[in-house]
Amino acid sequence: MKILMATSECDPYYKVGGLGDVVPGLAIALKKIGHDVRIVLPKYDVKTHTAVWKAVNGPMIVNMGYGVEFARLLQAKYKTVPVYFIEFDKYFCRPGIYGDGGGSYWDNWERFAFFCRAVIDMCPFLNWAPDVIHANDWPTGIIPVLLKMHTRHGILGDTKSVFTIHNMAHHGYAPRELLKFAGLYDHYWHPFAMEACGSINVMKGALQFADKITTVSETYAEEIKTSAYGYGLDDVLRYRANDLIGICNGVDTGIWNPETDKFLPKNFSSKSMGGKSVCKQKLQADMKLVVESGVPIFSVISRFFEQKGLDVLCDILPDAVATMAIQFIALGSGDGNLERRFVELANRFPERIAVKIGFDAALAHLIEGGSDFFLMPSRYEPCGMNQMYSAIYGTLPIVRATGGLRDTVRNYDEVSGRGTGFVFDDLTPLALYNAIKRACATYYNCGKHFEKMQRLAMKNDFSWKKSAKKYEKIYSSLRAHRQYPTHCS
Ligand code: GLC
Repeated sequence: MKILMATSECDPYYKVGGLGDVVPGLAIALKKIGHDVRIVLPKYDVKTHTAVWKAVNGPMIVNMGYGVEFARLLQAKYKTVPVYFIEFDKYFCRPGIYGDGGGSYWDNWERFAFFCRAVIDMCPFLNWAPDVIHANDWPTGIIPVLLKMHTRHGILGDTKSVFTIHNMAHHGYAPRELLKFAGLYDHYWHPFAMEACGSINVMKGALQFADKITTVSETYAEEIKTSAYGYGLDDVLRYRANDLIGICNGVDTGIWNPETDKFLPKNFSSKSMGGKSVCKQKLQADMKLVVESGVPIFSVISRFFEQKGLDVLCDILPDAVATMAIQFIALGSGDGNLERRFVELANRFPERIAVKIGFDAALAHLIEGGSDFFLMPSRYEPCGMNQMYSAIYGTLPIVRATGGLRDTVRNYDEVSGRGTGFVFDDLTPLALYNAIKRACATYYNCGKHFEKMQRLAMKNDFSWKKSAKKYEKIYSSLRAHRQYPTHCS
């Protein structure tokens, strides 16, 4: 099948969160099972990677509602997968993906509406008609809407859409002008289409018109149909429940594998764990903590957002380090208030708490390799990636039972010693404190169980292969249901 994956983030070019890992991971796995899969994203002015690209001949005409724009299409290759970049300086020649200096660009709705139109126009430009365009999160949300409008027109007459929700919290609000801007009929200003509470809701449009909707774990697919997690669109999701499928993300084991990881001072595996203590020593030394092999390290690598529940963690950390012999490490950035709170805690307990604000891939790998426990007390977590990275590095995740965290971590059973981590239900200071205490007690008092869990966690099969097969099934089900015979296109 021919599959075009449209995204606003793609590692190693531009990445803010997990979306940037998922798109290339899935694309490579689909390519491996024989599909013609390609990725398209905007070309931002973010220098995180020196891609080698070449321009595809000629300016590409992008049909907007008000006329046409001229863009350039660049092509590169990530491993085995062709990657296209839409170059259009007015919208994308900026230092940020969604914004810089903490905020969002005011014209994000215009930027990404333009991107969606360019994705549609890129297909005739390349004379390549994908069977499926797979769109991801609201920045690509107009694609399913445009495809429905384009049915029976041009080479995309038979192209179906899949829309994946990576995060239900961001909808992409836009003024009514969006319709005219993107070349959509004004009729789409309708509660059954894209209107919600007096503005355009791009995510809503995608959920109404995508041929299939997926999200990144089975539990999250259930959660978002409830008002507690649906962010006001749970009614639409209940309405589309038959077309909504949860598929857990995979892990790119080319990048995350303790046996081959180049960032680790010594590699290790479940059969030979010696390297893990070398990683721990280096981690403690690099973070200027006391180098002690017998003290458990609890870590966090995260975007500092409300979603992640780190405010509750900050509330209990002083008590936790005062009452338990543990060390704590945090790496991440985001919300300024949380950044300050973490830094203050590190200043107050320099021997026990170490914090690095920012993004640091090498340190992230060392933290996964050298820690004993990994904390994810998320308020909601569509899938989560770090709990999976942690598990396969023998770093036991401590997670709240939500979304993908619930689906990927098996709670410790004190009798059998089985489990792959620690799971707690409520995001309260007490529940989180108790989960850390339980982990700490297991580490000190029940070493056998701790090691058994490490081995089980490391054996998890989180590879993309299984999930890619599930996406493949969805794509082929759509192909089987072509609405119109090809001679109509
Ligand atoms: C978002 C979600 C995260 C998920 C990722 C990739 O960042 O918050 O849970 O793993 O998307 O799907």
